[in-house]
Amino acid sequence: MSKQPTVLITGASGMLGRALHRLLLTSSSYNVVGTGHSRLTVTHYHEHFPPPNNDTAHSSPSAAAAAADSLANTVELHKLDLLDHKATTEFIQHHHPDIIIHCAAQRYPDAFESNLEESIQLNVESTRHLAQICMSQPDYRPHLIYISTSYVFDGGVISKEFPPYVPTSVANPINNYGRSKWDGECAIRDVMNVAKSNSDCRGRGIIVRVPLLYGEDCIQLDESPALEMMKVLLPATAGSTIKKKKIDNWALRFPTSCEDVAKALKLMIDRALIDKHFDGTYHVSSPHGITKYGLLQLQSQLLNVPKSELDERAVGNDDNPSAANPLAAPRPQCTQLNCEDTWSALGCQVEFTTLQDGMRRSSRGFPGRFIGQ
Ligand SMILES: NC(=O)c1ccc[n+]([C@@H]2O[C@H](COP(=O)([O-])OP(=O)(O)OC[C@H]3O[C@@H](n4cnc5c(N)ncnc54)[C@H](OP(=O)(O)O)[C@@H]3O)[C@@H](O)[C@H]2O)c1
Repeated sequence: MSKQPTVLITGASGMLGRALHRLLLTSSSYNVVGTGHSRLTVTHYHEHFPPPNNDTAHSSPSAAAAAADSLANTVELHKLDLLDHKATTEFIQHHHPDIIIHCAAQRYPDAFESNLEESIQLNVESTRHLAQICMSQPDYRPHLIYISTSYVFDGGVISKEFPPYVPTSVANPINNYGRSKWDGECAIRDVMNVAKSNSDCRGRGIIVRVPLLYGEDCIQLDESPALEMMKVLLPATAGSTIKKKKIDNWALRFPTSCEDVAKALKLMIDRALIDKHFDGTYHVSSPHGITKYGLLQLQSQLLNVPKSELDERAVGNDDNPSAANPLAAPRPQCTQLNCEDTWSALGCQVEFTTLQDGMRRSSRGFPGRFIGQ
């Protein structure tokens, strides 16, 4: 019997890494090795999201806990600090993965700005190091699948290259986060090209660009840029007054479920396992465009928040919000990704969750599920 292929997921404690880890575990065709950095125990919900609080609101605390447990698995991750290159090399040599899916990153543009050096080390140098390890194994060559972002494009502002973008469109990131992800892509291409010319062997670097993501299992609204605006819908706490908040109604996003990206990544993993020359840059994005304010309106409808209440708390801002805030990282207005090349390379297409269904599932149990906001 041939051994199961080993798939290593960096950042398996993060929003996308959790969805991919959960999907791969359900198929039992792979030996999955997940790594985290500060979070080493994560909860995988069988139905992909926690039970709504309402379902358990009238049961005893122990019955509610048992009901929640029955829907969840606790998964232990391996601790790996990707900034520690020696430890990373040893870890990979020990686990001998066939495929590495590199999800770990600093991906909050504003947090990136405030911790520039370490963020660049993680997003660029750790990625380069992973590519070098993949290309320098004496006996085998794992595929490296690197998750990048639509923020490598500028929306046409400077480049005059306008969306929708294909993988060969000219990149021109306009914030440090986008630049670091582009530099991570370049690092992989550099390492793999050197290896190709040295060994006459095609590299195995796969770059997957994705847009704004949301997870169906988040318990912190901040974890998903598609859910964070829902904070304005949380009930007022004692002593606090509700302030009007401006929500971006300027930039067009394409919120994509991590579950859907995980399905596309699984197709790529399966292809890479049978085709050692599978490489290149691919786009994976939902086609459903909306602004953050539009999303908040949709979320309010789904949660039956009266329009008057939404109007009291939030107002759509039609101007570029990052231009008005010197502390915020600049954002492009639209970086829609064209995914045709991906589906023709894979020979099939992922059916993307509608925004209605995705938002309904990811906001289940609101507000009680979102603890400690
Ligand atoms: N979220 C989005 O909207 C979005 C959009 C476009 C592209 N992307 C890209 O998609 C990928 C996944 O994003 P995500 O939303 O899942 O990110 P996330 O939820 O912020 O997760 C980041 C992961 O990186 C890990 N990590 C942080 N520092 C590390 C270190 N020094 N060593 C090892 N691991 C470290 C974290 O581990 P701990 O939590 O355990 O510390 C966590 O598992 C990233 O490459 C991101 O750039 C995301």
